Amino acid sequence: MRKLLLISAATLLTSTAAFAETPPKAALCAACHGADGGAPISPTYPKIKGQNKEYLISAIKAYRAGERKNASAAIMAGQAAALTDAEIESLAAYFASK
Ligand code: HEC
Repeated sequence: MRKLLLISAATLLTSTAAFAETPPKAALCAACHGADGGAPISPTYPKIKGQNKEYLISAIKAYRAGERKNASAAIMAGQAAALTDAEIESLAAYFASK
């Protein structure tokens, strides 16, 4: 019984920690890029799951600055415009870790 309680406490701690690490805006990204950024809603949308953190940061900042101009870039520019540097950093770390 005591062992069971310890396991439950450990599970609770682990899930709380995982929740705390999820940036609040990650759910917005999942609307298009899918769960964990790995299942986009369209085959023309990129997977961002497991991508390099530094690449994600520079890509998102490039959309925000209007430097990416390919066909669907406007969709992402709208998303990036609402992000601060700190949010970009934590979202990039989050999706890179998936
Ligand atoms: C409305 C749909 C939509 C939402 C919401 C969205 N994205 Fe995107 N994202 C796209 C599309 C479409 C592209 C591809 C644009 C292009 O052609 O350059 C893209 C591209 C990207 C890229 C570039 C990937 C690469 O390989 O170069 C990154 C990084 C990215 N999104 C991150 C995010 C993050 C982080 C969020 C949440 C803040 C987010 N996106 C929200 C649609 C979306």
